[in-house]
Amino acid sequence: MTDKDFIPSTYTTDKTEGKVTYKSPSNIALVKYWGKKEHQIPANPSISFTLDICATTTTVSYKKLKNKASDFSFELLFEGKPKEDFKPKISTFLKRTEPYLPFLKAYHFTIETSNSFPHSSGIASSASGMSALALCLMELERELNPNMDSDFFKRKASFLARLGSGSACRSIKGDLMQWGAHKDTLNSSDLFAIKYPYKVHPVFKNYQDTILLVDKGSKQVSSSLGHNLMHDHPFAEQRFDQAHKNLTKLKRIFEEGNLLEFIKIVESEALTLHAMMMTSMPYFILIKPNTLEIINKIWDFRASSNTHVSFTLDAGANVHVLYPENEKEKVYQFISNELVAYCENGQYICDQIGKGAKKL
Ligand code: DP6
Repeated sequence: MTDKDFIPSTYTTDKTEGKVTYKSPSNIALVKYWGKKEHQIPANPSISFTLDICATTTTVSYKKLKNKASDFSFELLFEGKPKEDFKPKISTFLKRTEPYLPFLKAYHFTIETSNSFPHSSGIASSASGMSALALCLMELERELNPNMDSDFFKRKASFLARLGSGSACRSIKGDLMQWGAHKDTLNSSDLFAIKYPYKVHPVFKNYQDTILLVDKGSKQVSSSLGHNLMHDHPFAEQRFDQAHKNLTKLKRIFEEGNLLEFIKIVESEALTLHAMMMTSMPYFILIKPNTLEIINKIWDFRASSNTHVSFTLDAGANVHVLYPENEKEKVYQFISNELVAYCENGQYICDQIGKGAKKL
């Protein structure tokens, strides 16, 4: 497939006004996307668990304009209030998606959005937010083309979400999503994410993710800037190659349910992501002292408890504590007794693998 396959030729019906709501989850990468080319093409393939609780709910109300406007016409409400600082990101998204959604300037949109997680918790809302918005716009396109098949609908929603934020393309479905061309993954693509197509052992089916909110302040360095620093990065090529290899290794690990090998890859990916930040020019550090305290506690507990608790990180100081469901009680006890003390205001979110976005 090429991006041209997502340009509609004609619309068979008309729609003057309507309203649609989607709830779309966040996701946590196991093999990280860090580095991209033009047009939101990833420098390496990535894979993520779709989350369940951390989600954005977006309602798009649309009304056809008398004449097609020269610019996008929309207003944005976040948690019920106008939010000017989110508008540039939405404008960029609309600009990038217009070639594939040629009706965008023919409507006025009211976009109302809210998150299930606390605002400025340090949890990236771009994955859930951009995927929810992409799905709402696809729903309007489906009104204009009612014969659209549901696989195409989801694939194009993922394609559009990617143009808003790369990781967002992995939030459309669950429970394990892969994005980026990879020689050992059938039908994988740089243009959209696919549901992981191979056998997955039941132990991974209801994996738990407790997100420890270590630092809720806003990020000093945005992901976009971080991705850019992978151009001319001294270790870029080795890193991209490592991601491909880790995905290949994961195939057998997922099939066999080999938790010890799973942990090695996931923790190494998290630390490599931050190592890339620390070795770019300019260099930067997003982890905090409490991030390291938590990592060390996890390692000690894992060694002494016979559990398979592990961690991963996103582009911030928060720690995602990962563990299989059948170890929930033991690990949860450990988290409350030993890790919550390192969270800002004791805050954390108990999440788990989810099934993807839902129309409400
Ligand atoms: C560290 O998807 O936020 O979470 O495409 O610029 O919007 P943009 O970047 P974004 O980057 C996410 C990076 C990451 C790793 C991952 O989710 O794979």
